Amino acid sequence: MKVLVTGGLGFIGSHTVCELIESGYDVVIADNLYNSKIDVLDRIEKITGVRPHFYNINVQDKEALDKLFAKEEPEGIIHFAAYKAVGESVYKPLEYYENNFDTTFALLWMMRKYPKCKNFVFSSSATIYGVPDHVPLKETDPRKDATSPYGETKVVIERILEDIAKVNKEYNIAILRYFNPIGAHKSGLLGEDPNGIPNNLLPYINKVATGVLPCVNVFGDDYPTPDGTGVRDYIHVLDLARGHVLALKKLETNPGLVTYNLGTGKGTSVLEIIKDYEKATGIKINYVIKPRRAGDVAENYADCSKAKNELGFTCKYNVFDACLDGYNFQKKENQNK
Ligand code: UFG
Repeated sequence: MKVLVTGGLGFIGSHTVCELIESGYDVVIADNLYNSKIDVLDRIEKITGVRPHFYNINVQDKEALDKLFAKEEPEGIIHFAAYKAVGESVYKPLEYYENNFDTTFALLWMMRKYPKCKNFVFSSSATIYGVPDHVPLKETDPRKDATSPYGETKVVIERILEDIAKVNKEYNIAILRYFNPIGAHKSGLLGEDPNGIPNNLLPYINKVATGVLPCVNVFGDDYPTPDGTGVRDYIHVLDLARGHVLALKKLETNPGLVTYNLGTGKGTSVLEIIKDYEKATGIKINYVIKPRRAGDVAENYADCSKAKNELGFTCKYNVFDACLDGYNFQKKENQNK
C-alpha cells in the first residue's frame, strides 16, 4: 500500500516512516519543515536504504495537495502534521485551530476527490481524557473538555472523524491516542531535539544530562501520587511507531472507525523517571522542586488491552531503553552542532 505520511520528518513521523518502509509500505512524505529538518530525510534513507518521495508543502494548501494526490495516488494517510505545544496553543488559539483543522479538512477533501484513498490514521492524544476520574484510561472513557486549544483540536477532530465515518462506510479510520512518547531511534539518527528550552520532560532531562541545561525543574511534589510528582505513561517512540503499522494493517481488514490508546499501561512519576534515567545512563541528574505547572493533571496512564487484543500491540521497550536511546541521540546531536 502507498501511504502519505504528513509531518513525516517530525519526531513520531520519522520513526513511523522507517517502520512503514521496513514493513514493506511505499511511503510519500508531506512536511513543510515547520518543526523538522530536511536532513531527517537523509537519515531515513541511511536507516532504511529507501528515500521516500518528499513534498515540501503545507498540508493546508489544497492545490499542492491535489497535485501530490494526482501524481502519487496514495491509498492511505497517516496524519501527523499539526501544531502540538500545549502551552503555546493557549497564546495562539487562532493559529492552532486554523492549522490543525485545515490540514485535516484538506486531507479529507482529497479522500473525497480520490476515492482510491480510503484509509486514514489520525494522531490523537491522551489529552482528550482531560482530568481523568480514574486510571488506567480506557477508550470507552469519556472525552472531556480540553484544557487547551491544542487539546480542543484533538477532541473536535475525533468527533468530526466519527461523523464522517458514519456516512462514508467505505472509509477506514484509526484514531490513535498517544500517551507520552519518548526515546529515540536505536541508530541515534532520529529523535526529538526541540529548539530552545524544551517543554516536555524527557527532552529537558536530555539537555541536563548533556550539560546544556543545569537542572530539571520538577513541577509539583504535592500531587496525590505515591511520591507527590506527576505520573505519566511514557512509551518508546519505536513502539509507538510500530503501533501505526499495526493500525494500518487493521484498516486493511475494513473495520470502519477504530480508536486505540497507545501507551504501555504503566505509570511512572517524574522522580522515578529521573532515577531510571540516572540508572540507564550512569549520569547524575540534578533537579529542583518547583510549583505545579498550570494545566497538569496528577496521573494519566493507559489501559492498553484493546490495542493488545485487536492489534497484537505490546511494547518491546521500557523506560530504561527510552532514556538511554534519548540520551545517545541528544549526545550525537550536540556533537553535530
Ligand atoms: N514536568 C516537569 N518538568 C518539566 C517538564 C515536565 O516536572 O520540565 C512534568 C510535568 O509536570 C508532568 C510530566 O513531567 O507531570 C510530563 O510532562 P510533559 O510536558 O513531558 O508531558 P505532558 O504529560 O504534560 O504532555 C504530553 C504531551 C501532550 C499531550 C499529553 C497527553 O506533550 O502533547 O502528554 O497526556 F497532550
